[in-house]
Formats: sequence, C-alpha cells, structure tokens
Amino acid sequence: MTPVRCPVLVGRRREVATGDDALASAQSGRGSAITIAGEAGVGKTRLTAELSTAAQRRGMSVIIGRATPEYSEVAYRPWSEALSAGTRRLAWPEDAALAPYRRVLGLLVPQWRDSTWSTPAEAPVVLGEAVLRILAHLAAANGLLVVLDDMHWADGPTLQTLDYVFDHIAEVRVVVCVAVRDEGRGMRLLAASRRSGSAQLRLGRLTAKQVEEMVGNCDLTGLAGLSVGTISEVSAGLPLVVEDLLSLGRSGGSPQRFADIVRSRLASLSAEQRGAVRMAAALGEHLSWPVVAEAACMDDATAAEALRRAVDVDLLSVQAGEVRFRHALTAEVVANDVLPIERTEMTRSLADACMAVMAPSLDRDVLASNLFVSAGAVSRAVHLLSDAATRAEALGAVGEAAAVCGRAYQLDAEFGLAGALQLGVRLVGLRLQAGDFAEARTLATGLLGRAEGVDGSATLSLLLMLARASVAQAEWTLAEQHLGAARVLPHGDQARAELALLEAECAFGSDRPGQRAAVEHLAAKAVELAKLAALPRMECDAYRFAGRAARLRDLGTAAEALERALLLAEEARLPIERLHVLDELGTVEMLRDARCDRLERAYREALRMGAFGASTSAGLNLSSAYAMTGRHRRCAELAVEIQPTAARLGLRPLEAACELMRGIAAAFDRDREAAEAHLARAEQLAPDDADLRAGAWAIGHGVGALVDDDRPRARRAFARARSLAPQRHARILDASIGPTMLLDAVEGKTTPAAIRSMAIADVAGARWSSLWLGAALAVSLARVDETEPAAEELRAALDAGDRYPLFGALVRRLVAEAAIDCRFADPVELLRDAESAFVDLGLSRPAETARGMLRSLGEAAPRQRGADSPLPDDLRRAGVTAREAEVLDMLADRHTNREIAARLFVSPKTVEKHVAALATKLGAANRIVLAEIARALHRP
Ligand SMILES: Nc1ncnc2c1ncn2[C@@H]1O[C@H](COP(=O)(O)OP(=O)(O)OP(=O)(O)O)[C@@H](O)[C@H]1O
Ligand SMILES: [Mg+2]
Repeated sequence: MTPVRCPVLVGRRREVATGDDALASAQSGRGSAITIAGEAGVGKTRLTAELSTAAQRRGMSVIIGRATPEYSEVAYRPWSEALSAGTRRLAWPEDAALAPYRRVLGLLVPQWRDSTWSTPAEAPVVLGEAVLRILAHLAAANGLLVVLDDMHWADGPTLQTLDYVFDHIAEVRVVVCVAVRDEGRGMRLLAASRRSGSAQLRLGRLTAKQVEEMVGNCDLTGLAGLSVGTISEVSAGLPLVVEDLLSLGRSGGSPQRFADIVRSRLASLSAEQRGAVRMAAALGEHLSWPVVAEAACMDDATAAEALRRAVDVDLLSVQAGEVRFRHALTAEVVANDVLPIERTEMTRSLADACMAVMAPSLDRDVLASNLFVSAGAVSRAVHLLSDAATRAEALGAVGEAAAVCGRAYQLDAEFGLAGALQLGVRLVGLRLQAGDFAEARTLATGLLGRAEGVDGSATLSLLLMLARASVAQAEWTLAEQHLGAARVLPHGDQARAELALLEAECAFGSDRPGQRAAVEHLAAKAVELAKLAALPRMECDAYRFAGRAARLRDLGTAAEALERALLLAEEARLPIERLHVLDELGTVEMLRDARCDRLERAYREALRMGAFGASTSAGLNLSSAYAMTGRHRRCAELAVEIQPTAARLGLRPLEAACELMRGIAAAFDRDREAAEAHLARAEQLAPDDADLRAGAWAIGHGVGALVDDDRPRARRAFARARSLAPQRHARILDASIGPTMLLDAVEGKTTPAAIRSMAIADVAGARWSSLWLGAALAVSLARVDETEPAAEELRAALDAGDRYPLFGALVRRLVAEAAIDCRFADPVELLRDAESAFVDLGLSRPAETARGMLRSLGEAAPRQRGADSPLPDDLRRAGVTAREAEVLDMLADRHTNREIAARLFVSPKTVEKHVAALATKLGAANRIVLAEIARALHRP
C-alpha cells in the first residue's frame, strides 16, 4: 500500500494569492502576518508549504517552527526551533544592532548563551523586540518567511512574544505565517492576530467538485470499485481523508471511516511491529524512534524494519530525518485503541527508555516526567523535574528552572504528595530571581497559611521572600509587617543577614523622619552578618546597597562600598551583578572625579554580553558624563542611539532620560528651541519623576540660560528646579543649589555662613557642588573683606571644576564680576580663561561677552579664530579645537609655552595642557614633531 499525496493544491487560489501579495510586499520593505485557521486535516500545513515554495522562488529565506502538545510547558519552543534551524550554520551574528539582545535571545537559542549567561530580567517586550531584530537580520535584503505551525499547542510566553512581533511586523521585511486549529489557545491567537490586522485565512472543507479535482489529480491506477462520489461522501470534503481513501482504495480495500482505515493498516503489520507503532502513539505525534525501540525491547535491525513497514503502510512518515505520524489524527486513532491498563505499562517503559536513550536535556526531562505521570509514577516525575530545576538554576536559566519547578509543585499538590510545601518555597525563590514579584507574592501568601505553626523554617523563608518581593515593589509597610513577623521566629546566620539587609532597604525606601541616619548603620550591619555567614552574594548585595545609601551624603564613602561590591561580584563570578555595580560605581566616579572610563567600560561590556537593561542604563549615565565634561555632541549622539528602541519598547523612563540628555546637549550648544522641545518632551514622558524634572530645569533650562547670559531666566529655572527636587528618594544631587548660591553671592544677597550651611547639607565629594558652592563662598568671603581665604576657596573651587570646561568657564565669568569690585582674584585672568574655554567649546556668543568685559577693563581682546574661521580638514578630523590650532601655529614658529601664553593671554599651564592634547590627538611624540606637522599644513 503506497501513500497517496495529491501533487497539486486544489482550490485555495485566493489564499495563495493573499500569501503571495504578502511576500511581495515584505520584499519591498513592508512585512505582515498571516493566520491560517481550520480543523485538523483541512490543509493548513499544506498551504504553508505552498507559501514556503513561493517564498523560496522569490529568493527569500524560510524558517519553520512548530508547537507540540508534548512540550506545551516548555517556553518558547516554536521560536527555538525556527531560529535554531534558521541559524544552524550561524554562530551568534556579530551585528552591533543585535548585541544588546544577545542575552534575551539566549532564552530561545541555547547555543547563543555564553559562559556568563543567566536568565535575563528584561521585560517580555524586550524579548519581542529581540525576536523582531533577529528576524530582520535573517531577512537581510531579500526577505524572510517564518512559518509557525500547530500553534494551538503553543506555550504562553511564545504567544506573548508573538503579540509584540505582530504589532511591529510592518517595520521589517518579514512575513510571519501562523497555522492554528481553531480550538484552545488557537482562539486566543486568532483574536490577537485579528487585533493586529493580519490577514486571516480560514480554510473550509473542499466542495464535491474540488474533491473530484483532487481525485483526478492523483494517480488512480489500480483503484478498484471506489467512485468519486463515494470518496466525496465519506471524506466529507476533508482532504486528509480523501488521500487516505485513495491509498486504501488502491490496495483494494473498501471505503470506511477514517479510524477504520488506520486500524486496517495497523492490522497489516506483524504483532511486534504493531506493538511498536502503538508504543509510538503513546509517545506522541513527534517521536523518537530509538526511544520506541528501547521501550519495545527491539534490536536495531528489527526496529529499522518496523519503521520501514509503518512508513510503507502510511501510518508513519519520515521528514527531514524526523519520524512522525502520518497525521495527528492517525496518532489519535492508534492511541485511542490502547487499553488503559496497556497504556500504563507502555508509558512506564517509554519513560524509562527516554531516560536511557536520550541525552540529558530539559526537553527529555519534561517528556519523561509526563510519561511517568501517565504511568502513575508521579513521585518519580516530581523528582525528575525537581532535579531538572536544580540543573537549570545552576546554569543560570532561572526562568526554565521556575517553569519545571512549577510543574513539579503542581503535580505534588494535585496528587497530594508530601513535598508540595518545600517545592512551593523553592518556586517562590525562583520566581523572585526571575523578577516575577507579583506571582511570587501570591504563591507565598497562599503557602504561608499552610506553613505557619507546622514548619518553622518554611515560614521564615516565606516571610523573608514576601518582604523581598514587597521591597522590590516599593510596598514598604507590607515589607515591614513581614519582617516583623520573621524577626520573632528562630533564625540562623543567613536569615539574620537577610533580615538586616531588608530592614536597611525598608528604612531607606520608606524614608521616615529619623530613619535616614539608621540606614547606613543597618547596611553596615548587613555587610558584617553576610561576611559572618560566608555569603558572598549577599555581602555583595549589602555593599552595593550601602553604596547606594551613602551616595546621597558622601561620594567617597559610596565609592568605597561599591568598590568592595565590585570585588565580591568578581570573586563570586556574578557577571550581571558586576555590570550593575560597575555602572553605579562609574556614576559615583563621574560625580566625584569627572571620570568616564568606568562607565565606558560598563557600557561596552554590557553591549558585548548582550545585556539590554545594563547597557541602556550605563549608556545613559555615560551620556550625562559626556555632557558634564564638555562633550555635549557625544552626549547627544549616545542618547539618539538609545532612544528609538526605548520608544518602541514603550519604556517611558528610559525614553524620557534620552530626551533629557538631548535637551541638555542642545542647551549647552545654545540651540534654545531644540533644547526646550526636548526638555518639555522629557517632562511629558515622565511627569512623576521628580529627579528627572528637577534635573531638566536646573541643568537644561538653568545652566542653558547662563550660557545665554540670561540671568533672570536662569534664576527662574533654578527656582523651579528647587521646587521640583524631591525631598525623598532623591537619586541625584540637587543641581540648582550651587548656581543659585553663586548668583546670590555675586549680587551680594547672601553670607558665607549661609553658603557653608548649604555645603554641609550637600553631597560630600561632588565636583559640581565644590565648583559652584566653593566659588559662591569665595565671592561672599571677598564681599566681607576676607580676601585671603576667598582667594584660597576660589582656587580650590576652580581646581574641582577643572574637568568641567563649560561650568568652569561660566563660574569664572560670574566670579570675574565680583573680582572687579573686590580684588581677591585677577578678573582679567578669569575672563581670558573663560573666553578661551568658550572658544574651544565653539560658543562664540559667550566668548564675545567675555571679550566685551575684557575690553571694558581696558584690555586688548582680539577676536580669535573661533567658530567663525574654519580649521584645516586634517585637524578637524583629528578633533583639534580652534584654540589648539592656534597653539599649533605658534609651535611651528618655535615659541616657548611662556611666549605662547603671553600672546594668547592665558596661563603657561593652560598652554601646557593644549600641547599635551595636541600630541595625543595628532599622535606626535613631542613638540618638535608637532612643529613639523604644523609646518607641513602650511606648505602649499
Ligand atoms: N487543497 C488541497 N489540495 C490537495 N491536497 C490537500 C489540500 N489540502 C490538504 N491536502 C492534503 O491533505 C493532507 C492533510 O493536510 P494538512 O496536513 O495540511 O492538514 P492540517 O490542516 O495541517 O492538519 P493539522 O491541523 O492536523 O495539522 C495532506 O497530505 C495534504 O497534502
Ligand atoms: Mg498541520
């Protein structure tokens, strides 16, 4: 009996045309989704095959993934299959646009996980975006067709990802074609695809005429006594049955119902072969023949012969090396005819065979555990899953661990086994680790009722985890209640350390009056206890928290704690934790030392490790470091790079931060219109983020207005920033205080005592405050004739602001005004340095203001080659500034630093800095080489 397959696709002309249109439009840049729906055997897979052929004809790539009932608990299986097959020959594609998504994509394609991989905590939308990007990458120029078949069996996470892909499919050269039976999850998918406006192709049964056409197209030799009418009637238009009737008819059989056809085929096999096929049906539609052979105790030759026969009679088929049933319905009929008692025995043998034959993997464990459950060996299944969870957790796959542990818990509870409480506690822990706080809390609350008074250690664990989840969700009162309940239970070293850390976090978060001071003390206690209990991870957490708490008071203390955290993260091999600490430490160092190197490293490494959350956070901090240190163009570039993704993913706070950085960069560049637009948009996106809004007003509007020399506007902006600045939970220091105090001091409206009290309340070690408040103090001291201390304060302040070229110049210009009245500093030197810095920053208007002031003091202030006269291209490309170009010119004439300084009205130290910068930028070893370069530039 040879199987019959109709060589042509009958009917479905409209569906094929719709599909072809979609393919063409994807190739020209606009992708779309297609959903094919209909009952079993109606021809959904066949239609996808037709579309695949059409796509290949067009030179498009095709990847295929399927959902299966056996694995509906394994997350992302269809995506894994499609992407693994589609990229089988590919290692991880080294595409910069994909780099940040490597970690999340590791969820789908295990071979892309590197040794530092652990379950990412990013939002599901990030995974959706990651999938979209990898699809776009695979699509390249010619386009891509993704077929996802049998999606009525798809797991929840796969469907979530698909939702995002559906929503953005038009932006990529990709057609996603999804086939579903209109039952179960298929219905949910259909609803989602309808919402996204994808094409819906509902396949109905064939008409009598179409059945006739099918029959006409098949090879009819040997068909005896089977009329088209009978076929049409018996099949009721279901193509699968039409083909089966034809193959049966050819072998001389008579028309029967589909189930009878399958049975008669089974009957034509030997008893042993029949046993194997029945065994296969118990295993499922997609099956492993070696497992079947092992379970049926067949040797290799017998097993191969049995498979050959089963394929011959069209019960099984082998496609691309994979053994499957001819059709899901075939498997169903065979399986239904197995008696329950036989089934128990079979599934038990199959489960053992899985464990004996298959390589260890999560798939194997899930499959085997399901078989053990059918065989009634539930506790065996629970053990297997629990071990699988342990292994997955050790590999950092927390999400997978939570999924299998969840299944074990569910089985244990359902069958009333004894381990449900322990498993439940573990599951809560895994959900916490995976960032599912809400789910963790629901489960823990339920379990708590069962544990209390019965199992002290489980009760304690649950209370601590409830507190942890509440802290993560900023539910301070609840967290404190859980902690209070935990404290009175007997506990060991580990719990004591955990309690201390949670108490510290609660005190910090709830920020009740009087508790602030206690926070750092509690954090130190947590560090000590973690050390005592020899828990490096917790010690690292405690140091990190101590750093965060100290940051609002003293950057030095914060940096110290974070350095310890960094060391611990490195020693304990916690790569992601390490990235976050690096980011936090880099931020502290930016504020304290104007250093960017650590943030640059955090950003680069996060990109390389493919950690989306860490890379965007470090990238934004780096962008603000660039703004502070006078590189506002790079600041804007980085923000522009991050923003589109943030916007697409709907990550509002991130998008707002990008707008903020762009606004600040534009303000520093004196593009007021752009600055205002970006800053307004930032506030709009994050109306509840007081830190961000205060920053926008202080640094964007306020300092921006100072650059424009519009003091009333600056004052208004600083006042607004002050009123917005949060009293609680501040993440950043209040940037409005320093400039306000300096303006007050210059206008004689404040006293040294007032400024000193401000400085004490401010963050110690912050360069920003040292510059502005220090200068304010100097001016106010000079105003009460304390000239000597004033001069000293000013020197210290300007040194602190040394690496903030723009802020240093603004401060010098303001201080110069006071220095004209009370001579505690040389106003001419201050103005010359300010002017020179403005020229370097390409800010011609403030430079001109400074020159005007110099002239009014009777000083020569020639217009420099500033933004107006162009630099030679070679120099511009090397990043040489206008001022440096002037120095270079003079080096060509072999002037000394002192001579150059005199000509440019700057200090010799400043010239020294310019020469060093030139040597680095032009790769010259010394000033002699620089002189040669300069002369070469001038040769015609
Ligand atoms: N329009 C058609 N013309 C010719 N043959 C068809 C047609 N539709 C389906 N067939 C044949 O019928 C058989 C069953 O179709 P198919 O496997 O595509 O069903 P399905 O809808 O995918 O079912 P399931 O939901 O079980 O996956 C296949 O062998 C296929 O070649
Ligand atoms: Mg199918």
